[in-house]
Amino acid sequence: MNRLIVVSNRLPFALDSASEDLWTVTPATGGLVSAVEPVLRERGGTWIGWPGIAGKIPKGPLAEATHDAGYEVVPVALSGTERDEFYYGYSNEVIWPLFHDLQNFCNFEPAYWETYKAVNDRYADAIVHCSHADDFIWVHDYHLMYVGQALRERGLSAALTFFLHIPFPPYDIFSKLPQQHRLLRALLQFDLLGFQTRRDLRNFLGCVRRVMLNAQVVPRRELQLVRFEKREIRLGHFPIGIDFESFEKGAMSPAVANRALQLRANFPDSQLILGVDRLDYSKGIPERLRAFRNALERHPELRGRVVLIQVVVPSRVEIPRYNEFKQRIDRLVGDINGRFSTSDWLPVQYHFRCLDHEDLLAHYRGCDIAFVTPLKDGMNLVAKEYCACRTDENGVLILSQFAGAAEQLKTGALLVNPYDVEEVADTIFKAFQMPESERTARMKRMRQVVRKENVFWWVDSFLTAGSRLARRSPSRWRNLRILIM
Ligand code: F6P
Repeated sequence: MNRLIVVSNRLPFALDSASEDLWTVTPATGGLVSAVEPVLRERGGTWIGWPGIAGKIPKGPLAEATHDAGYEVVPVALSGTERDEFYYGYSNEVIWPLFHDLQNFCNFEPAYWETYKAVNDRYADAIVHCSHADDFIWVHDYHLMYVGQALRERGLSAALTFFLHIPFPPYDIFSKLPQQHRLLRALLQFDLLGFQTRRDLRNFLGCVRRVMLNAQVVPRRELQLVRFEKREIRLGHFPIGIDFESFEKGAMSPAVANRALQLRANFPDSQLILGVDRLDYSKGIPERLRAFRNALERHPELRGRVVLIQVVVPSRVEIPRYNEFKQRIDRLVGDINGRFSTSDWLPVQYHFRCLDHEDLLAHYRGCDIAFVTPLKDGMNLVAKEYCACRTDENGVLILSQFAGAAEQLKTGALLVNPYDVEEVADTIFKAFQMPESERTARMKRMRQVVRKENVFWWVDSFLTAGSRLARRSPSRWRNLRILIM
């Protein structure tokens, strides 16, 4: 059976040191990790990635903690400079803002690109070192877009696959990137490129047409085709899902039910609105708070009757823009609570920390409205997790039209433009007043999609597309069908 080799910047395990010899290994957080981990746990395979600390990686603690993971874990080490220039720098100060259409937030520091390539080379070495001829190599996300090129430079002729978890921008934005040609050339070294949505795929093909003048885009009904330097590259959109059953089961557990009841009991007369986001400017948190403030101003019926629980999970705090962004959120929360709170009502409950899994599920289960309004997002799994946890088929989802999830959930969610503060404010009011029958009908439709197009469906669609490559390269892929369930 073909072994699945997943390669991503982050491992699902985060290593940290409390003191010189005291190491802790905790589950890593994030969309990619939470989606891919159940798949590897179920199928087995190998995961190559970074455990989140700079410097040497001690062998013992990670090996011990991952012994029963169900798959092999291969750590890649980054020095302090590499972490700063590859992870914080090129990945998160160039690609991340640019691909989320926020070009003014980019820091196009030339040294970042060199380190990005060097770290991608390191990942390529790790793949060469631990992969066998029949493995299915699946590289993930924007940190590792150069790995295909690095592997070709090492003489690897086998088929390689890649999935981009974040959006791909339109040409007018992508064309700001100093390395646009080199990056597209590197991506075209993969044999299968997966994107979250039709929009991202369309944007990518538009960029290939404009930048790679010797590439030929051949439109197809299912997988698209690009011919480039005597090679054929397949491209498709594969919207990522969640482990629906596990969320549903978790939400129904007595412990979660109790915590949800406790949460509700704290706010007996209010509808609860929930925002859960990593600290990130792409998530639209200030715009959301302004919309909430606007709703309280223009719809006084909401005062004392709604509470916004906004959870912000600390992330990338070493990048100055993230820190400034946190201060903006703090100020807005202070302003809203200062202006509207009464002796027995605080409109915004703000938590700057990670919720444990049970608590997160209890919040999904206990909150009447989920408020998911990123300025742009590859998919946004919070929206899907909320639906999976609403086993009572109740709950309203207010969703940004610029989240990848909008393509699948538009039949049930209230779609909004997150920049339009008044429209979002009116949508809060609409959600607040929505009759139960409508809530249920909408939630049922969304749950059907999230249940069916779950994370295992996502993997199967991607691997099935990979198996089409298999037919063109039989020796490398002959057993792939066995892997697909
Ligand atoms: O959305 C893509 C993604 O890689 C997610 O998996 C994750 O939540 C985030 O971006 C990365 O976060 P971090 O920088 O903490 O790895």
